[in-house]
Amino acid sequence: MAAFKSMDKEQLTAVRAALMAEYEGYKAKKLSLNMARGKPSSAQLDISSDLFHSLDETNCISADGTDCRNYGEMTGIDEAKALFADILEVDPKNVIVCGNASLTLMFDFLAQCMFDYGDHIAWSRQEDAKFIAVVPGYDRHFAIASYFGLKLVNVPMTPTGPDMDLVEELIKDPSVKGMFCVPKYSNPDGYTYSDETVERLAAMEPAAKDFRVVWDNAYVVHDLYDEGDRLKEIFSAAKKYGHEDYFVEFASTSKITFSGAGISCIVASDHNIDLIRMRLQVQVISYDKLNMLRHTNVLKSAADVKERMKKHAAILRPKFEAVLAILEEELGGLGVAHWTKPRGGYFISFYLEKGSAKRVYELCSAAGMSITKVGATYPYGIDPDDSNIRIAPSYPSIDEIKTCARLLCAAVKVAVSEAQ
Ligand SMILES: Cc1ncc(COP(=O)(O)O)c(C=O)c1O
Repeated sequence: MAAFKSMDKEQLTAVRAALMAEYEGYKAKKLSLNMARGKPSSAQLDISSDLFHSLDETNCISADGTDCRNYGEMTGIDEAKALFADILEVDPKNVIVCGNASLTLMFDFLAQCMFDYGDHIAWSRQEDAKFIAVVPGYDRHFAIASYFGLKLVNVPMTPTGPDMDLVEELIKDPSVKGMFCVPKYSNPDGYTYSDETVERLAAMEPAAKDFRVVWDNAYVVHDLYDEGDRLKEIFSAAKKYGHEDYFVEFASTSKITFSGAGISCIVASDHNIDLIRMRLQVQVISYDKLNMLRHTNVLKSAADVKERMKKHAAILRPKFEAVLAILEEELGGLGVAHWTKPRGGYFISFYLEKGSAKRVYELCSAAGMSITKVGATYPYGIDPDDSNIRIAPSYPSIDEIKTCARLLCAAVKVAVSEAQ
């Protein structure tokens, strides 16, 4: 395709016609494909069928004698705290285990910061509060911040984490109140923050003393290969600088067991845990401890979780590899697109030449394939370069995902040829 430049008008017309014919071939198949949904396939959900049999009326008392059918233990049962503490390499006393979605916990935490946050002035009563959005990123983070009226400031993601020079510059402004981070297998690039990035984040000296990093460790155990990426633990890094209060971590079993029917947690410093507990006392009597037990009866340690994640990887890995192989075969070396090659998580990030992602989206949609809306990976739905497409290989079958990848490549070639 790089050869486009050297083609005369006639040659170009012939190549365009051939590429369009290939694309029309897909269209004629009247496909109905979806490569937009970042959720587990049914086969992955089947891995956790044991949860249906892990609890009955004979074993619903937790280790410390709590009857999990009743109110009580607002911050979660000890077994569940120990499980998340083991996974996240933190102290169980700094863990609160909650309901089915970590996203709700992030929303609630930011709501607390907006309304009343301990010794700090509520963000809603401060002038022009802003939040850093690492881009491309997770649309629902951006939606929460926008909902609360926090203005989002873009910081580009790099293979080693956010552009830290820019972060360090931005935090000199006291109206910058925090940032979203997905530190392992980021959504959508699949990058893991390097030790140096984690250390620089831990060492940050924000002008805003009420600065908070939403450390969304959604993909902490979601390795596609036995040897997964290694992420430096943030609280032990922050402790060296006395900065533990700047970080609040979130995780869940949404993509370990059942999505939307798992358990979730918040991890925070002693000080922040006290404040969160005070708020929860108003908000909830207790979370679903039966579901916590259902989980901890089958997942007793991080090692058990690792074993379960290997079963997920056996299903997910061939899908990721199929997409990557097709992208390489169809587009490798053409210089018209590049893409990430994650070793875990749920997404591949695909980058086109500036100004062409929307056209590719249109072509894919017209041929019966849903892909994540262009712009969804940026605040306010605006990708300034019109370049990024999030590929979600998890849900379709392997045959479907291969067709999706081929169709995407056909659409890319048409879009590129049109732009000549
Ligand atoms: C980065 C990230 N955080 C959080 C979530 C949602 O997690 P939960 O189901 O625990 O609310 C997702 C789901 O795709 C995600 O990609």
